[in-house]
Amino acid sequence: MTSSASVTSSASVRTDMAGTIAILTIANPPVNSLSANVRRDLVAALSRSVINGVTGVVIAGEGANFSAGADIQEFDSGLDPTAPDPNDVHAAIEASPVPVVAALRGAVLGGGLELALACHGRVADDTARIGLPEVKLGLLPGGGGTQRLSRIAQPMIAADMIASGRTLAAAEALAAGIVDRLGPDVMAAALELIAKLAASGQTATAKRPPLSGLAEAIETARAAIPAKSPHAEASRTALDSMAGAIQLPFPEALAQERRLFLGLMASTASRALRHLFFAERAAANAPGVDKTTRARAIETVGVIGAGTMGSGIAMVFANAGFPVTLIERDPTALERGLKRIRDVYDRAVAKGDLSTSQAQQRLADITGRTDMPALSHADLIIEAAFEEMAVKLAIFAELDKLAKQGAILATNTSALDVNVIARSTSRPADVVGLHFFSPAHVMRLLEIVRADETDAQVLATVIRLARQVGKTPVVVGVCDGFLANRLLYPYLRQVDLMLEEGALPAQVDKALTGFGLAMGPCTMLDMAGQDVAWHVRQRQLKDWNPAMRYSRLADLLVEQGRLGSKTGAGWYRYAAGGRQKEDDPAVEAMILAESARLGLARRAISDEEIVKRALYAIVNEGAFALADGTVQRAGDIDVAYTQGVGFPAARGGPMFWADMVGLKAIHQEILALHAGGDANWTPAPLLAALAESGRSFGDLDRERQGA
Ligand code: COA
Repeated sequence: MTSSASVTSSASVRTDMAGTIAILTIANPPVNSLSANVRRDLVAALSRSVINGVTGVVIAGEGANFSAGADIQEFDSGLDPTAPDPNDVHAAIEASPVPVVAALRGAVLGGGLELALACHGRVADDTARIGLPEVKLGLLPGGGGTQRLSRIAQPMIAADMIASGRTLAAAEALAAGIVDRLGPDVMAAALELIAKLAASGQTATAKRPPLSGLAEAIETARAAIPAKSPHAEASRTALDSMAGAIQLPFPEALAQERRLFLGLMASTASRALRHLFFAERAAANAPGVDKTTRARAIETVGVIGAGTMGSGIAMVFANAGFPVTLIERDPTALERGLKRIRDVYDRAVAKGDLSTSQAQQRLADITGRTDMPALSHADLIIEAAFEEMAVKLAIFAELDKLAKQGAILATNTSALDVNVIARSTSRPADVVGLHFFSPAHVMRLLEIVRADETDAQVLATVIRLARQVGKTPVVVGVCDGFLANRLLYPYLRQVDLMLEEGALPAQVDKALTGFGLAMGPCTMLDMAGQDVAWHVRQRQLKDWNPAMRYSRLADLLVEQGRLGSKTGAGWYRYAAGGRQKEDDPAVEAMILAESARLGLARRAISDEEIVKRALYAIVNEGAFALADGTVQRAGDIDVAYTQGVGFPAARGGPMFWADMVGLKAIHQEILALHAGGDANWTPAPLLAALAESGRSFGDLDRERQGA
């Protein structure tokens, strides 16, 4: 490349010269988002370059990424009316008398790709990840993306990208016509393309006709939108906008796109999905731990226990390329665990999700052993043995003797006191809880349980590692049930009480799946095993507050051996090996008899009441957990519930949903429920305080972040 000299530099766009070609570099860390100042500086740099008589312009991004698109923060804080909007920037590029080429690396997403599409040509290296992920935030590409992609990319791919938000690798983008050239030295490739365009003359993308086959591609993509997608509405609207490329002249289609975009931006679903985007990232911060906290190196992982959880956890790490040693007590149990793993990989290969060689590689990364000393070199050891304190203490005593110094010792307990486990060792600072959700290799939520003495570096290590293996970490304190399960207890209690008062399992499930939950509570417990919840209740009954109403309905199920789908019966009965669920008259008779025994006159309970009571119980307990420090942010609860409990992402999680309903109204209704004296409805003081001061959980998170 010709030697370059920096001529001008504004806060967010630097101009360098390579001979007579201007190189405009967007420098807006961390991901070069196109905030108002970048848009302003880009327009200014372009016009300065043209005035200075350059023969071509390259637009590039500083660092590893071209640009991750619009600054998502601006959608909530309000768009700056004094700054050029993306369409103004694109119009300036298309009006340029000299060719403008985008040099693409790393993230080329959303507005980043729209900017590139407005250029006269695009080159990329193989780090480029190219896409329009706006629908994932409940939006559509509102800066000409639906119009320009329709004029450049192979229509089937373009429509799929717009509707699904899928990202393409550089080679795919080349094949689809989005990128003109690939090259390892993206700047050299850009300069070559400029020379070619200067010779042949360039055409603004807006002046090209939409590619043929677009109408059919749009309908194919529309039919492929999953009904349960949290962003189905955005996907449909994005395709409507894309159809404007066929139906309307470019300027009108662009105006329609902007209108549709602004409509989606104001929608609750988009606000919810944007909230979750930032909440997920914030959840990776814990007091005393941030991006600068040093992490320990993790190269090898040990997992103790090859049951459902242990084998799932082994796969999580093998899938991310870590060598894993999987320990069981005897060869038969070990073989059972390894077979479970092989079956999962075989199914993935049969479904086309994995290639045979990928599956083989992952299997090869998991070594089964029956001797604990095989873990003496592991950097991280995760105990996933039977959920009983004595068993865990015995394992940790052994680990304390054999694990190397500096190894992180984790327990996958879902309820036991991690402090007790940590203090039983000579190295409590190295002990942490890692609560995976079942099936571990599928569910994204990972609760990281910080015990009193857990070292900040240990925490930083497991937070980073979680993201590396594709999990969403949420840091929680030690308490019964940690975060996700703790908030489920009062929810499940309301379900049982509503059954006593007049509802039936199928109605409860239907009301809550109708709200959007992936699974109703009765079905969920049948799948998880009624005995699991029974154990929790037995533990809690030991110091039960007599002012809290207790329903023994679920206990009656367990006494009858109805442990859920695994025994063919729970709240429902199951045919075809547990897969087919049916209402069971015997359960209805049992519920009716219990209502009669309690002297309760059964009444019709509306779906609205079911949803309110079930969810208010979660919200109220969430407020207790926020006050006692089990959880730091309301956003963490939302992340945990959307990623671990099947709460609909389009509603943003229970705390965001509560903010939308209004905390004043919720508090009033909880007070009314509490008026009968049932301590299940003791309002959380934090909820009362927020309601009284007119604040929301979102306000609380912002205040705590600023503190
Ligand atoms: N606007 C504002 N902030 C953004 C952003 C955007 N478009 N994209 C990323 N960020 C922020 C993140 O919030 C995070 O901030 P934090 O460090 O304060 O938590 C930081 O940039 C790094 O992002 P992160 O996602 O943690 O890094 P990553 O390397 O894992 O992923 C991306 C990088 C670009 C792939 C990912 O951030 C992404 O997908 N961004 C959204 C892209 C998008 O949807 N664009 C269309 C917008 S309409």
